[in-house]
Amino acid sequence: MQIQSNISLKKYNTFGIDVLAKYFASFNTVDTLGQLLQYDDSRAKSQKNQIPILILGGGSNMLFTKNFEGIVLKNEIKGIEIVKEDEKYVYVKAGAGENWNQFVLYCINNNLAGVENLSLIPGNVGASPMQNIGAYGVEIKDVFHSLEAFHLKEKVIEVFNLNDCAFGYRESVFKKKYKNQFVITSVTYRLNKKPVFNTSYGAIEQELEKMGVKDISIKAISDAVINIRSSKLPNPAEIGNAGSFFKNPEIKKPVFDILHSTFSGIVGYALPNGNIKLAAGWLIEQCGPKESATWKGYRNGDAGCHAKQALVLVNYGNAKGVEIFALSEAIIASVNKKFGVVLEREVNII
Ligand code: FAD
Ligand code: EPU
Repeated sequence: MQIQSNISLKKYNTFGIDVLAKYFASFNTVDTLGQLLQYDDSRAKSQKNQIPILILGGGSNMLFTKNFEGIVLKNEIKGIEIVKEDEKYVYVKAGAGENWNQFVLYCINNNLAGVENLSLIPGNVGASPMQNIGAYGVEIKDVFHSLEAFHLKEKVIEVFNLNDCAFGYRESVFKKKYKNQFVITSVTYRLNKKPVFNTSYGAIEQELEKMGVKDISIKAISDAVINIRSSKLPNPAEIGNAGSFFKNPEIKKPVFDILHSTFSGIVGYALPNGNIKLAAGWLIEQCGPKESATWKGYRNGDAGCHAKQALVLVNYGNAKGVEIFALSEAIIASVNKKFGVVLEREVNII
C-alpha cells in the first residue's frame, strides 16, 4: 500500500487535463482498499478533517476543472472467470479494474455474445454499470447479472442484482441515491451462448455490407462497430476527450412536433414511452459562437468541439478543464436559445 502526494492526473484522464491530486493510491484487492480507507479514517481523525475520496477507473468520463484536494483511489482489481453456466447463458465475473474492451475481447474469443455492440468503449469494467454504458442499441443492463460493491463507511461488501441498480439512460443508483457511497469491486455479466445479433441500430448493417460480410458473427459485428466508431470518435491517445459530453435530451412528442415544424431537419427517435430522444449532436451542429454558424469543428486555444462529432468536446493539448467547461456552458446557452432545449452534461465534472 503506497500513498503518493501531489500527483499529476494528466495520464489518468482521457481528456488529458493536468491537475494535481493531493493524495493518490491504487488498489488491486478488496483488502488493500479496506486498508487504504482505514488509513484515511485515522488520518482524518488525527487531523480533524475528512477529505473527499474519488474512485478512479480509466478516467474516460471525467473532466477535472481544478486540483483534487482529496485522495484518488485507482481501482486495479483484475481477473475474469466463468462463475456459472446454464443451458442458455454463461455468467462471467470480471474485476472492476479490468479494461472494458479487453473484457469484450475475452467474450468474443470465447464465443460469448451480448457485448459485441459495446466494443471499443474506453474505461474499465467497474464503471460500466455506474452509468449503464451503451452504444449501438445495447446497454449494460441487457447483459448485467449482479455486482459486488464495497461500502465506504460500513466497510462491507454488498451485492446488487439487476433490480437494485435502477438502470436508466446513462443512469444507475450509483449516480443518484448511492452517489459516492460504494466502490464497485466486480461485475458479473450474463452472456448468451447463442448470439442474438443486434444490427438494427445506426449504420451497422451498411458497414457489414461494406465489409463484405456474408456470415454474420459476433466478431463481425464488433469489427463493424469499431469501424463506425473510429470514423467519427477521436482516439483519446491522439486528442483528449471523454466521448459524448452531453446526453441526448428527451422531450415530449408535442414539443418535438412544434420544433419539427420550424426545423424540419431535426433528428429525433421515438422512445417506448412516447417521448422523443433528440440527437444532441445535431442541435449543437446547428448552433455556433458569434463568429461561426456552427460549433462543429470550433476551436478556442486548445479547447474545441470535434469536427466529426459535435457531441464530443476535445482538448487539443493543454486546455484547462475550466476552458472545456466554459465551452460547454456556451454550447448549452446557444442550444437553449435556439431550440429551448437544455442539454445535460454526461461527463462527470470534478
Ligand atoms: P471513470 O471516468 O474513471 O469514472 C467515471 C465515474 O464512475 C466517476 O464518477 C467515478 O468516480 C466512477 N467510478 C469509476 N469506477 C468506479 C468503481 N469501481 N466504483 C465506483 N465508482 C466508480 N460511454 C458510453 O456509455 N458509450 C459510448 O459509446 C462511449 N464512448 C466513448 C468514447 C470515447 C472516445 C470516450 C473517451 C468515452 C466514451 N464513453 C462512452 C464514456 C466512458 O468510456 C464510459 O463512461 C466508461 O464507462 C467510463 O469508464 P472509466 O473506467 O474510464 O470511468
Ligand atoms: N448528428 C449530427 N451532427 C453531429 C453528430 C450527430 O447531426 O455532429 C446526428 C446525426 O443525425 C446522427 C445522429 O445525430 O445520425 C446520431 O449520432 P451518433 O450515431 O454519432 O450517436 P450519438 O447520439 O451522437 C450516442 C451515444 C454514444 C454512442 C452512440 C452510438 C449519447 C450521449 N451518446 O451518440 O455514446 O456511442 O450513440 O450508440 O447517448 C458516450 O456516451 O460517450 C458515447 C460516445
